[in-house]
Amino acid sequence: MRRKLVVGNWKMHGSQELVHSLLTGLQAQATQGDFADTAVCPPAVFLAQAATLLTDGRIALGAQNVSQHEQGAYTGEVSAPMLAELGCRYVIIGHSERRALFAETDALIAEKFIAAQAAGLTPILCLGESLQQRESGQALAFVAEQLTAIIDKVGIAAFDKAVLAYEPIWAIGTGVTASPEQAQAVHQHLRAVLAQYSEPAAVALQILYGGSANAANAALLFAQPDIDGALVGGASLKVDDFSVICRAAQSSN
Ligand code: 13P
Repeated sequence: MRRKLVVGNWKMHGSQELVHSLLTGLQAQATQGDFADTAVCPPAVFLAQAATLLTDGRIALGAQNVSQHEQGAYTGEVSAPMLAELGCRYVIIGHSERRALFAETDALIAEKFIAAQAAGLTPILCLGESLQQRESGQALAFVAEQLTAIIDKVGIAAFDKAVLAYEPIWAIGTGVTASPEQAQAVHQHLRAVLAQYSEPAAVALQILYGGSANAANAALLFAQPDIDGALVGGASLKVDDFSVICRAAQSSN
């Protein structure tokens, strides 16, 4: 059975002080033993500090972005081997903010996916439709296209060591969450798309939901058969809220 996974995407928030208070607070909560598998993705500059705080292995570390290149003259970039050396297990790839604000294409996202796995990192591949696409009835077709664009470049076997995150753009940071039924319908569709390539891969792949997931709606989302956890933005910056989500995920494991 798929285990639930909760990942906090801090985006470009925080300070050394916040990293310390958030992670010591979260670790204290996680020590009580009722968290699902949990990871946090602080900004890259705080990863080393976060790694020194996350010593007991209960909470994994992830990055929010990675270069497609292994090394070289790429000013300002961070490579997958660097993230691995810092103790990262995951890296978020293809987030809609990077697609929209930094012009990341499917081709680039596929390269980053491959670079991440080559360094032993697990990519968390994000996809999701815009409000306009949803309202015009194109949501399922669009996310299927986003997924197949990556599968066709990296191969379905690569999804053995990856996580998928469905993040409808209209739900990100808006306080408007996809209803559990809306999210389930997309997750089920994504799994059906995967099954066209490989039934075992479709059954095994964790598909997270992201977009205004919070302490109040997490349990209902996790009760859906194809929702395997959450990629959490705003609520991951509050120890109490994030802990409620991690516990809700564990209760539905
Ligand atoms: P919010 O939870 O703040 O809506 O952000 C979701 C997200 O983009 C996580 O990657």
